[in-house]
Amino acid sequence: MLALNNIGHLVTNDPAIGNGPLGIINNAGLVADDDGKIVWCGPQDQIDQYTEAQPIGCDGCAIIPGFVDSHTHIVFAGDRAQEFEARMEGLPYAAGGIQSTMMATRAASDELLSLNAQHLAYEALCSGTTTLEVKSGYGLSVKDEERSMRIARTVTTETTFLGAHLYPTDVDQEDYVDLVVGEMLNACLPHAKWIDVFCDRGAFDVDQSREILKAGAKAGLGTRIHANQLQKGGGVQLGVELGVASCDHCTHLTEKDIEALSSANKTTVATLLPAAELCTRSPFPHARHMIEQGVTIALATDCNPGSSYTTSMPFVMSLAVILMGMTPDQALWSSTQGGAQALRRTDIGNLCAGSRADLVVMDAPSHIHLAYRPGVNQTRAVVRGGKCVVGAL
Ligand code: NIG
Ligand code: FE
Repeated sequence: MLALNNIGHLVTNDPAIGNGPLGIINNAGLVADDDGKIVWCGPQDQIDQYTEAQPIGCDGCAIIPGFVDSHTHIVFAGDRAQEFEARMEGLPYAAGGIQSTMMATRAASDELLSLNAQHLAYEALCSGTTTLEVKSGYGLSVKDEERSMRIARTVTTETTFLGAHLYPTDVDQEDYVDLVVGEMLNACLPHAKWIDVFCDRGAFDVDQSREILKAGAKAGLGTRIHANQLQKGGGVQLGVELGVASCDHCTHLTEKDIEALSSANKTTVATLLPAAELCTRSPFPHARHMIEQGVTIALATDCNPGSSYTTSMPFVMSLAVILMGMTPDQALWSSTQGGAQALRRTDIGNLCAGSRADLVVMDAPSHIHLAYRPGVNQTRAVVRGGKCVVGAL
């Protein structure tokens, strides 16, 4: 049982119980049950009707749903600081950098890979991320993809098989697609919920991506795609054609791509990853234009050692608002409910009755401060499944 009151500004993402699209309640209370589910959110003077417990006061702070980071690659070893340094001196970003992380990952012990993934998952939790998707993709052999997936499964249930991240140089390209849809998929299947493919220049083409995603879907996995990160191409159209849960990156889009995403906005989300654009000095997608055209947008970190080495959803929100034209309300929705939609979940990303009591108590008076104070940690406490797991209430 958890009972909170004196919440100055509560974002529920449930327009039925609060103001505006974010369902905001001022001077609110919240009650969760022993199973860690929300029982009630509403005006604080009604809390006695929902609990006999003495509520914990929140000193007028803001509370938001926990962030849902629907795109990370945190199972890896080594880092690519030198590649970053070279890029900042002018070298362009290319898919091939994945190869160097693959070598470090293959050489690492299970213990080291696990520790690194757990450390990054904890870092994310400390900034308010209560649900994390985690991909494989730095093993690129049957054995190393299987263990990457096994390790990913120890940090989350939202695990994604990304054997099709890049061709390893030690295998012929056509043989590699056969391996991914055959032996590798079978080995990873017990640990996987999703399948993903990097459909782009220097990685997999549209036909190969279609074959890989269809094989995953046939085996029972949900589908998602890395699309249009490095150039305009057919990735987004393929994602919409296959009804994937999310087309991720969407850095280089045509109006036809935007139309396709908009026509599929109930099934396929566009997950934007502005920290990847920032760290690769790429153009930012026009999020505001996409929203105006009716595209559903999620925001995520893309945490990985090459293109976006951050776990911070608040930082991503700042970028989305300051550099991609999103409003603070839109960025908050896309980082919580949008991420949940990208994972086809309804029990997270909001504080509706029955949803998981995953929330962030902020050292700030409203969610606007997340974008307004870039790079500043404003997390006072993080609650997951009704239990305080970071900070103190
Ligand atoms: O999402 N696009 C492909 N994968 C990662 C980058 C991986 C890397 O550079 O190590 C991404 O940006
Ligand atoms: Fe990625």
